[in-house]
Amino acid sequence: MLRSAILAASRSARLESLVSKAPFGRDVARRFVAGDGVADAVRVAAELAADGLSTTVEYLGAPTTTEAHAHAVRDEYGRLLRRIAEAGLADSAEVSVKLSALGRDVDERLARELARDVCAAAADAGTTVTVDMEESATTDLVIDTVEKLRGDHPSTGVALQAYLRRTEADCRELAGARVRLCKGAYPEPESVAWQTALEVDKSFVRCLNALLAGPGYPMVATHDARLIAIAEDRARWFDRAAGEFEFQLLYGVRPAEQARLAADGHTVRVYLPYGTHWYGYLARRLAERPGSAAFLGRALTNR
Ligand code: FDA
Repeated sequence: MLRSAILAASRSARLESLVSKAPFGRDVARRFVAGDGVADAVRVAAELAADGLSTTVEYLGAPTTTEAHAHAVRDEYGRLLRRIAEAGLADSAEVSVKLSALGRDVDERLARELARDVCAAAADAGTTVTVDMEESATTDLVIDTVEKLRGDHPSTGVALQAYLRRTEADCRELAGARVRLCKGAYPEPESVAWQTALEVDKSFVRCLNALLAGPGYPMVATHDARLIAIAEDRARWFDRAAGEFEFQLLYGVRPAEQARLAADGHTVRVYLPYGTHWYGYLARRLAERPGSAAFLGRALTNR
């Protein structure tokens, strides 16, 4: 109930305006978001690198509804990647991008072209890109785009969602690539997605096995203690040395577990968002967090 209420709130423009301007909103956001601009993202990426953590940095902008806006997002990634290179962080920091942010809903061809520009800017900076997965209606578009990008930029990664029934097969198809396996974050109907937590977890493990058995680079993106333990075990089973797969967690979520995994010798990459449009992202994180009402309450009373 609380989760649905928070998710509904994440789509409210009125609440976004209220929370974004309120000091408590910014205080809570600081725990999950690097800050408003490129300088904040690079500063936090450097702090995480000093703690032995890699990053994948994503720009959170307003929804992209025009070609001009899509070009502006591409340019933002260009600035971000130049600053990553200047700060000497190309070894530890890559970027994540959504095709929707690059204008998918305005013109799919434009979004593909701009994704290619972002990959070229990442290559110039000495790093790479992972393309996020969005609603299931766009899964084919994302996979096809990434497969084409991999022609020129083989290290381009793609996120796959274990809650989709198709994903185990996609994992086998893409087993040679850099693949981020996550549970999936969008509401999806029963016709395309597993609906219960147990079904999603079982699918996650089947997908994990397919990726670990292949020649690619699996990126295990979850905070779920049970799935992390299974991934550590399966990685040993498939003789994957540290550096042949990685764990990914969100900035601000289970930081002690991030440190524990890194101390155990694993590559740990922190998904680090920045930008002024952090409200929807923050609300989705709170919806996933057990006890988020108490967390919100504390943030409100400590303001
Ligand atoms: P689950 O939500 O079941 O959480 C398991 C446990 O983790 C919880 O019981 C709790 O202990 C802890 N936990 C989870 N969230 C927490 C929080 N906010 N605060 C504190 N504890 C928390 N999705 C997508 O559709 N497309 C994508 O491209 C991506 N990309 C992506 C990148 C990375 C690096 C991550 C970690 C996640 C994504 N996701 C995503 C989101 C993903 O699909 C999923 O919605 C969230 O990661 C939550 O799922 P978990 O696997 O963490 O399990």
